Amino acid sequence: MSHARVPQSSPAWAQALLQWYRRHARALPWRTDPTPYAIMVSEFMLQQTRAETVIPYFTRWMARFPTLQDLAQADEQEVLKLWEGLGYYRRARQLHQAARRILHEHHGQLPADPNILRTLPGFGPYTAAAVAAIAYNRPVLALDGNLKRVLARFFALETPIDTARAAREIRTRTEPAIPPGQSAAFNQALMDLGATVCTPRQPRCDVCPLQAWCQAYHQDRTHELPRRRPKKPIPHYNVVAGVWLQRDRVLLARRPAHAMLGGLWEFPGGKVEPGETHAQALRREWQEELGVDIEVGEKLGTFKHAYSHFRITLYAYYVRAVHGEPIPRQHDALAYVPVHKLDAYPMGKVDREIARVLQRRALQEAAA
Ligand code: ADE
Ligand code: SF4
Repeated sequence: MSHARVPQSSPAWAQALLQWYRRHARALPWRTDPTPYAIMVSEFMLQQTRAETVIPYFTRWMARFPTLQDLAQADEQEVLKLWEGLGYYRRARQLHQAARRILHEHHGQLPADPNILRTLPGFGPYTAAAVAAIAYNRPVLALDGNLKRVLARFFALETPIDTARAAREIRTRTEPAIPPGQSAAFNQALMDLGATVCTPRQPRCDVCPLQAWCQAYHQDRTHELPRRRPKKPIPHYNVVAGVWLQRDRVLLARRPAHAMLGGLWEFPGGKVEPGETHAQALRREWQEELGVDIEVGEKLGTFKHAYSHFRITLYAYYVRAVHGEPIPRQHDALAYVPVHKLDAYPMGKVDREIARVLQRRALQEAAA
């Protein structure tokens, strides 16, 4: 029997899970050559992001920065450019900084101890545990949203899973079950089970290797578990941005490193305050941020976007005239960029959509 490969100390359900994983593990590029560096990169990318989305980013990244040294020596703007579209850009800057710290403070060797990993930029409890477990087989649980759902069902946990208490309860019950020397497979098996079998809406209990031991299944409560705290409503903001074209060049401003979307370029603007018209808000923002008076022209477009904790509707306007010389009062740089070179400047999703509109119109005008 294949049981021989699994030490007797681990419970039967953990053995069943590992057996399932041997047959059903997803083929993911960071599993082909799971070096600590590759695992670190993939785990940073996989925070808040589905594996299918991450695959092409990971592949491009490893081709451009094959080693931790390559990443540590890279320019931050190039790092942000390779990350563009993945969102949560702070992860990219922190991954870059972590690589630099590992090179200089840990002789280029990624630590295996989750408590030491926690001291590095961007390593929260999840990422530290994931790297320790997947790269080094340390017996810790990489407890992300998927694992919380699977294990809350498995133990029929009543504690809402979006609480620190639930994380403690799940860890206390699960970590002792990790088969010795098999933490990487055990954790990734739970990840794959959560992604392909124990899914949020329609768990496929009929094909689940854990069915025989699953409390939610036996209590017929798979649809009411996991429990969550009541949600706060997500705020919505109206935002304006200005597009100042002079011949073929457009003004971009770079957001300060520590702000949201830090290091990314944008069309300057900001929130519409209560009672303001779009034009008033845009004139105020350009005065505050760039020290210039502007005249607002026609609307270029309307864009909607959801960030992690709020949503926006962004109204982009052409800026018709500027009185004075813009200076970066709240940004860390300004640039007058030819429209055909906008791709070289890392941006968030909405600003990239505006840039694409400009590029499409420039091409149409050239053709006309
Ligand atoms: N999500 C986070 N880490 C993962 C991994 N190593 N494999 C699959 N999905 C994941
Ligand atoms: Fe999830 Fe159903 Fe498997 Fe329980 S039996 S772990 S609810 S898929």
